[in-house]
Amino acid sequence: MNSLKEKIERCRQFFSELAPQVKDAQGVEELRQQFFSRKKGHLTLLFEEFKTLSPEEKKAYGRELNELKAEIQNRLTELEQKFQEKASERLIDDLTLPGRKLYWGAAHPITLFQREIERIFISMGFSVEEGPEIETDYYNFEALNFPPHHPARDSWDTLYINDKLLLRTHTSPVQIRVMEKKKPPIRIIIPGKVFRRETPDPTHLPMFYQVEGLVVDRGITFAHLKGTLEYFIKALFGEKIRLRFRPSFFPFTEPSAEVDIECIVCGGQDPACRVCGGSGWKEILGAGMVDPQVFKNVSIDPEIYSGWAFGLGIDRTAMFAFQIPEIRQFYENDLRFLRQFNRR
Ligand code: PHE
Repeated sequence: MNSLKEKIERCRQFFSELAPQVKDAQGVEELRQQFFSRKKGHLTLLFEEFKTLSPEEKKAYGRELNELKAEIQNRLTELEQKFQEKASERLIDDLTLPGRKLYWGAAHPITLFQREIERIFISMGFSVEEGPEIETDYYNFEALNFPPHHPARDSWDTLYINDKLLLRTHTSPVQIRVMEKKKPPIRIIIPGKVFRRETPDPTHLPMFYQVEGLVVDRGITFAHLKGTLEYFIKALFGEKIRLRFRPSFFPFTEPSAEVDIECIVCGGQDPACRVCGGSGWKEILGAGMVDPQVFKNVSIDPEIYSGWAFGLGIDRTAMFAFQIPEIRQFYENDLRFLRQFNRR
C-alpha cells in the first residue's frame, strides 16, 4: 500500500496539473469541490485516512498534510480573485453601457457677465483699467470731493482697515488714479470688487462688483452720457428694455443722476416682488458729469475739458439679466446653480 506521504505528493501534483486549466469562476468552484467535497474530495479522503494512523505516523504526516491543505486553499482563493477581476474588466469594456458624464469647469456667471459688459464698451472704443481693492481715504473720498466729516460719506458704509486705509466702497477712486497719469482724451471702464458694511439680503452683500465708466474730452455733454448708457443697456437687455434717469447727488459729479431699469423679474406686476419691492423699477447705476473740483484735484483744466462718469452694480444687473431673485446665490458655490451658466 502506498504510504500517506506518497499520496500527499500525488495529490499535490494532481492539483498543480488541474489548476492552470481552470478558465472561469465556475471552474474554480468545481476544482474546490474535487478536493474538498465532504464525501469524495481528494483532500477529505486523505484526512479520513490520517485519522486511522498510529500516533507516531500522525506526527510524521500531520504537518505535511496541513501544509498541502493551506497551499490548495490559497491557490483557489487566488484563482477566484483573478476571475472576479476579469468579470469586472469585462463590464468596463462594455461599450454599450452609457458613458459617465464629465463636467467641464466654466467661468462664474459674474465673470461671464463682466466680460459681456467689457465686450460692449470695447466695441465703443473704451479700454479696461483696474485699481487696488485696498485704498486710501484720499482716493476713495477726498480726491472725489468728499471733504473730511462730510455727511455724504455716510451713504457709503465703509470698512476701515486703520485711520488711513480702507476697503474701497466703489470703483470711483480708480477714476482719480487714471486721471493722475493720463491726460484726455480718456475713455475707460473699470470693473472690480467693492466692499460695504451691509447686512446680506436678496439684493445686498458686503462684497460685490461694480464697473465704472469715465469719459473725458473737449466738448463732452450729458447727451453723450445718456446716449452711451442707453446704447449699453439695450445691447445688454435688448431693444425693448425701458430705463429712466432720476436726478440724484454724488459729490464727484454735477449734475448727477441714477438710472433705473424696469423690473424684469416681475415686470412691475408683483406688489410683493422681492427684487424691486413692488415699484417696478430697480436702480442699477449712478452717473453724472465730472465735477470741476475733481478735475482740479488731478490738474485737468475744467475750462477746457468736460466729462462724465457712471458706476454700475454688476451683480445686481446680472440678477436681472439671468432673472435671479437672490444675489446670495452667486456666492454659495452650489454647483446645481452654477452649472446652469456653463454655456459650452
Ligand atoms: N461711485 C458711485 C457709487 O458707488 C456711483 C457713481 C459712479 C456715481 C460714477 C456717479 C459717477 O454709488
